[in-house]
Amino acid sequence: ETVTWEADAAEKGGYEHYMRKEIHEQPESLRQTIAGRLDVDAGDADLDTSFPPGFLADLEEIQIVACGTSNYAGRYAAQLFEDLSGVRATVETASEYEFGAGRSADRTLVVAVTQSGETADTLGAIRRANAAGARTFAVTNTLGSTVTREVDDTAFIRAGPEIGVAATKTFASQVATLAMLAVAIGRERGALAAADARPVLEGLRDLPGAVQQVLDNEDAVREAATEYGDSEAFFFVGRQLGVPVALEGALKLKEISYDHAEGFAAGELKHGPLALVTPETPVLAVLTEGGRADETMNNVTEAQTRGAPAIGCVSAGDKYATLDVSLPVPDVGVVEPLVANVYLQLFAYHVANDKGRSIDKPRNLAKSVTVE
Ligand code: AGP
Repeated sequence: ETVTWEADAAEKGGYEHYMRKEIHEQPESLRQTIAGRLDVDAGDADLDTSFPPGFLADLEEIQIVACGTSNYAGRYAAQLFEDLSGVRATVETASEYEFGAGRSADRTLVVAVTQSGETADTLGAIRRANAAGARTFAVTNTLGSTVTREVDDTAFIRAGPEIGVAATKTFASQVATLAMLAVAIGRERGALAAADARPVLEGLRDLPGAVQQVLDNEDAVREAATEYGDSEAFFFVGRQLGVPVALEGALKLKEISYDHAEGFAAGELKHGPLALVTPETPVLAVLTEGGRADETMNNVTEAQTRGAPAIGCVSAGDKYATLDVSLPVPDVGVVEPLVANVYLQLFAYHVANDKGRSIDKPRNLAKSVTVE
């Protein structure tokens, strides 16, 4: 038994949980994700894709199919696909996916986002897309996984093995990979100028260092977790690219702390959830570039007026003096919400850890869900 314990401790590299280890691995896993794939000078990204001639020029829609955290990575990416590739992009909950009327199969790219490559709901969606005659693409972490055998093309996210049931580093690497795909498609279609691609590529290049700065500030978020962790419920809000991060922040917290948490578009607060806001419901907000920070802050203020404490992940230089806790996010453009997400991962981790939860294996959940 001693041997097993020691082996286990060694694998966790001195961390108490795989989840915290994997959160801290993100600078390195992101470096792997982008290695050799960015050409900042040329304003291009290379994922070694091989679309048939003319396919991208005629492309009408990118449909992303995914579950849970991977679905939120997809929601982040859909906005990037529209902005950078100039193609309409939609995100479907894989378990609900049907190819749907009014689309032309040969002008649709269906992208499965799945860390494991084994999620039954996502495989089911890809089989429906294949049956409809659409071109299919997988973004996955797992070489040789089932999804890679079912699709036309695959891009690996290269995050390395993730043991904790809560997806952390794979989310970051999924978004980074999809961002590169959006640039590559935009450039190949002629919809994106090198000069417009460059700031995005620079943000990706600087992403590992920016994530490291957040990790170096872990004490600040640990304090916030200790101060507010015993609240009744938690609301996560953002706008635009901040929305998927808000959804992901809430999922992470509920998954490992078992607390009630909800994420939504900040503008929706006043359309219902505000009724639940009290001094016992902290609001966590993404207040960065890519997330309409000033408008989001207006919504946060509405919650604060009802007594809610507010914790904000804020772009460097922006100051919202009324926040109860302000967590600085380095300047990396459209990937700033992705950096903010690391604070939310740490918040979830420390809230759950203070409560002594089974962080790496939360109750009722499995790492890979192979039933529909
Ligand atoms: C996230 O923390 C969960 N483990 C879960 O939502 C997960 O992202 C989902 O089951 C999809 O898994 P996949 O990426 O392996 O397809």
